[in-house]
Amino acid sequence: MMMGRRAGMAVAVAVALLLALSSCGEASARGPIRRPRKKTLPPGQKPPPNSKFFPITPGRFGHKRNYEASCADENGPSCYVGCPSDCPNSCLVFCDYCLAFCPCDIFPGTSCGDPRFTGGDGNTFYFHGKKDQDFCIVSDADLHINAHFIGNHNPALNRDFTWVQALGVTFGDNHRLYVGARRAAEWDEDEDHIQVTFDGEPVDVDAVRNARWASRALPGLSVRRTKDVNAVAVELDGVFSISAGAVPITEKDDRIHKYGKTDRDSLVHLDLGFQFHNLTDHIDGVLGQTYRPGYVTKVNISAKMPIMGGAPKYLSEGLFSTDCAVSRFHCSDSIAAAGAVTTYAS
Ligand SMILES: *[C@@H]1O[C@H](CO)[C@@H](O)[C@H](O)[C@H]1NC(C)=O
Ligand SMILES: *[C@@H]1O[C@H](CO)[C@@H](O)[C@H](O)[C@H]1NC(C)=O
Repeated sequence: MMMGRRAGMAVAVAVALLLALSSCGEASARGPIRRPRKKTLPPGQKPPPNSKFFPITPGRFGHKRNYEASCADENGPSCYVGCPSDCPNSCLVFCDYCLAFCPCDIFPGTSCGDPRFTGGDGNTFYFHGKKDQDFCIVSDADLHINAHFIGNHNPALNRDFTWVQALGVTFGDNHRLYVGARRAAEWDEDEDHIQVTFDGEPVDVDAVRNARWASRALPGLSVRRTKDVNAVAVELDGVFSISAGAVPITEKDDRIHKYGKTDRDSLVHLDLGFQFHNLTDHIDGVLGQTYRPGYVTKVNISAKMPIMGGAPKYLSEGLFSTDCAVSRFHCSDSIAAAGAVTTYAS
């Protein structure tokens, strides 16, 4: 179930999906078709990284039934596969296993929904944080990313349902990049809900797929729309690429998960994919630590809802503060290493 370290497929989700389209349904050998048998996976395990898969968006394309994929049609075992409840409208089907997964549970470096991260080590976990607060999700020598959480308090569970509303990315000479989802009482998918600012200045990109803004002040920094509205890829050459999509909590999500959504707020948040190109071995943060060489997860991955605890270690004063307890930002490696020892000893 381990995905390649730093495989960084996450941001290339769209590309991967396209490639995947052609990787499945390869011509079968001539002669009578012998249906392959369904392979099984232990509970909680994921298909190995070289597995074949293809995306489905139920209801949009004419699969045999319009909400399920027929694996027999793909020269696989004879089964129909629909999307998991966490991503009912878009998922990846692994016909060899007659299973479907949300992209967020497959690609390393992703975060979706009531935030569920898949780490650089390939393991998926929840990090609930707390609503209206900021947490460091990546902290490294020259790159620090905080996430702002919004949410609803759920008295029954005695915790907040939370979502990532914005990222504050600090890098280099204290540059500040903001990528956020605009609040909306009612979601309109034709309206843009993504907001980007760089060093406090709004970044305006035409609402057309592939329209691109490149920073004059900082060569290598760019923002590209990956859909006309509500999806962008933000890149700093040689350092990171972040794909961000603004999505609402739908009535259906609300019914399934009992989020307690009100008419006043559609809880627009970001689904995210990260790719990092210049990490040090001391990287920390909720997601960042999972990229460390030899990282062993402390999350119980066989639990139905694996949760990463220790929220206070990641709590930050503000979206652009680099002060969380595990911060590595602008520490020299030796200081960072000493810091690591202290952390483990405490
Ligand atoms: C990569 O990170 C190091 C610090 O760890 C930094 O000095 C260097 O400038 C970074 N490279 C790029 C291309 O930003
Ligand atoms: C991990 O989760 C499984 C499934 O819920 C449970 O049986 C097991 O006791 C848990 N392990 C630990 C160490 O909590």
